[in-house]
Amino acid sequence: MVHEVARMRERDGVSCLMLPSDGAALERASALLRGGELVAFPTETVYGLGGDAGNDAAVARIFAAKGRPAENPLIAHFADFEGAAREVEFDDRARRLAELVWPGPLTLVLRRRPESRISLRVSAGFDTLAVRVPDHPLALALLRRTGCPLAAPSANPSGGLSPTRADHVMEHMADKIDMVLDGGPCRLGIESTVVDLSRPDQARLLRPGGYPAEAIATVVGTLSGADGPILSPGIFGVHYAPRLPLRRNARRRQTGEALLAFGRGAPKSGPAVRNLSSKGDLAEAAANLFDMLHALDQPEFIGIAVMPIPDTGIGVAINDRLRRAETSS
Ligand code: TXA
Ligand code: MG
Repeated sequence: MVHEVARMRERDGVSCLMLPSDGAALERASALLRGGELVAFPTETVYGLGGDAGNDAAVARIFAAKGRPAENPLIAHFADFEGAAREVEFDDRARRLAELVWPGPLTLVLRRRPESRISLRVSAGFDTLAVRVPDHPLALALLRRTGCPLAAPSANPSGGLSPTRADHVMEHMADKIDMVLDGGPCRLGIESTVVDLSRPDQARLLRPGGYPAEAIATVVGTLSGADGPILSPGIFGVHYAPRLPLRRNARRRQTGEALLAFGRGAPKSGPAVRNLSSKGDLAEAAANLFDMLHALDQPEFIGIAVMPIPDTGIGVAINDRLRRAETSS
């Protein structure tokens, strides 16, 4: 069903669309979105599966394409803060955080404005809406040209590995969507940090991600965990899982396993081995995580052994994804 993959590549350090031509590819993607169709597009975190957030039918198509339970709400993406502020209520904390991080890998869960035109399906029955401004030139150009907010979960079948390259989207979703904008590999490679600020007395971390929780705590004060009565539906159940079983904190590979290594002294990449970062750099490891899991998730192996990853900085988000993948297998 994908008609076209429009590519964007770095040229002389400048990102540019190469096929068929900048304006034409974006215009085509925008026209599809305005017509209620789905377009996958790159963000700085992972590829999103976009649809017009104000169009009930388009939003229903997103849930159907992913096989996502209707009770798991989506993130609405905006070109700027002002766009988001038309749909949700920002208090001082939320405004300061948005000013600090946007465009960037932070999603804020805030109370919907009564006059919001975002489809109620995006909120999945909650009185809140998750909003974010992505930091990617192609995503921002698409949002501006389309002229409406885009609901966009990660562009993978529900429960599967998130896509960090257009090829990942093509491999798993090509028959379900209308177009993929190819912006090359995603810079961060791990999803946005999700923070719930919908109650004035509370700040909850619903999902660790590309923006460090410690930096958020400096703005909002105490940041509590995702336990308690109000929960993010997306933090339950099978998530971020390869098809193969995954074994964490492995020291070495057992017969038949593939190995996801980390750090100096660990095995170098080869047919059955990928090293997330031979320098031991966690940002590099995050950028490689889903791509390397996709590469190792092959039927010739019986499982994927993963070496220990330090649980600091963005390592917290990496370990969160690996834990979910392990328990679901
Ligand atoms: O980096 C990202 O956030 C990517 C890119 C495409 O922007 N998107 C992404 O979307 O990861 P998704 O749908 O795969 O994850 C969104 C998470 C889910 O855990 C969902 O439950 C939670 O955000 N969420 C969305 N709306 C919510 C709400 N109103 N209340 C609580 N949690 C919400
Ligand atoms: Mg996802």
